[in-house]
Amino acid sequence: MTKIDVLLGLQWGDEGKGKGVDVLTPEYDVIVRFQGGPNAGHSLEFEGRKHILHLIPSGIFHANKINIIANGVVLDPVIFKKEILALENVGVDARKALKISRKAHLILPFHPLLDAVSEHSKGEFKIGSTLKGIGPAYRDKIGRDGIRVGDIETSNIRDLYFRARSKYDAILQPVKEHYQLERREEEFFESLKKLQEFEFIDSEYYIHKLASENRKILAEGAQGSLLDIDFGSYPYVTSSNTICGGACTGMGVPPSMIGNVLGIAKAYCTRVGSGPFPTELHDETGQRIREIGNEYGSTTGRPRRCGWLDLVALKYAVMLNGVTHIILTKPDVLDAFDTIKVCTHYKIDDHITQNVPYSVDSCIEPIYETLPGWKTTLKSFRTKAELPQNLIRYKEFIEHYLNVPISYISVGPGRDEIIKVL
Ligand code: GDP
Ligand code: IMO
Ligand code: MG
Repeated sequence: MTKIDVLLGLQWGDEGKGKGVDVLTPEYDVIVRFQGGPNAGHSLEFEGRKHILHLIPSGIFHANKINIIANGVVLDPVIFKKEILALENVGVDARKALKISRKAHLILPFHPLLDAVSEHSKGEFKIGSTLKGIGPAYRDKIGRDGIRVGDIETSNIRDLYFRARSKYDAILQPVKEHYQLERREEEFFESLKKLQEFEFIDSEYYIHKLASENRKILAEGAQGSLLDIDFGSYPYVTSSNTICGGACTGMGVPPSMIGNVLGIAKAYCTRVGSGPFPTELHDETGQRIREIGNEYGSTTGRPRRCGWLDLVALKYAVMLNGVTHIILTKPDVLDAFDTIKVCTHYKIDDHITQNVPYSVDSCIEPIYETLPGWKTTLKSFRTKAELPQNLIRYKEFIEHYLNVPISYISVGPGRDEIIKVL
């Protein structure tokens, strides 16, 4: 039985998971999304085109691969249909390659409304949600009020839907016209037809069968470890377990079946939405990273907050996930920097620590080590031998701190802009 490798984000999302999965897909037979939903925006670039996937696994552009949306995902059929049509537009017929778990929960038309109402009521304490209905959909799942993909085959979905909606009548009544709930509902029921063109599977059995046949499986995470519902900076988190444990529950596989855990991290940090960010740069350096790195959200277009690499937080993520290898992305964004800072400790009051405290708020003062920049354009390099000495030094500093090897360094958004360094 082959073990399942997991690729997941180690920071606040947008580390380059889409690209990482796309690059590694040739080594695998099967790509599985295991949590999150259309709050994700995974970018892939090849042949001069950029594609952004929200729900569909990032292996979809490779021929003869199986892609699975597993039970841990929350699926919005309207967004799913749009994504399928966008793929058809570029000549990809996903019906052959994509299978969907019957146990995945549906994002219902009122879930994004509940997100909007909740965010509005929080005022300055809002989460900065993508407003895709992720929190309310997972809440209904956990509250045992959800509707699953498999219900489309076995039940009268309209009856189930209106029963599920009635629980929220009091909240929805004042806002439903403003948010055009009826139009959304029509779109939702219509979009289910597209969903039904796909094969619904008992994905836990299917994945175990593939593994027993020694098919190579890569599980694709969404968001990042610092947005995890248990271990992120709660309540400024998403509503699923983004860490490796979420891959087990999100696919129905035991921990003993997990093989390599490929943690992906940017050479600096970004965060979109609210919440603590100890190494955030509010100055022109932050602005410079944002502009060079094109740090604007793939799902919402919002500017991403930018800051230096936070090794304290990264080490926490490595611990939570049992990371075996790191994929480092976007060092090319720092090509022109004279010096690069990395946070190695937090100072909280008079106390210096390498642990992420219970409450990550503004009382954390990051302590930095300053490393020399490489002042070289990395984009065209394809071999380890070409890498400048100061980038090697940066890489080794990170490896030494985390005690995990870096296996790939990505030097641009394109599929071929990556260097195997292990
Ligand atoms: P994901 O959510 O983790 O898949 O990441 P996103 O796609 O939301 O954001 C990553 C962005 O960085 C995308 O625009 C990618 O095309 C881009 N990207 C990925 N790797 C690199 C890299 O090594 N260098 C540069 N400059 N851009 C990259
Ligand atoms: P990918 O997979 C970056 C953030 C939102 C917000 C918080 C909660 O592309 O890395 P939610 O919509 O889940 O209610 O939002 O989480 N967030 C992400 N940030 N990348 C993502 O996904 C994200 N998905 C959610 O900005 O702060
Ligand atoms: Mg993203």
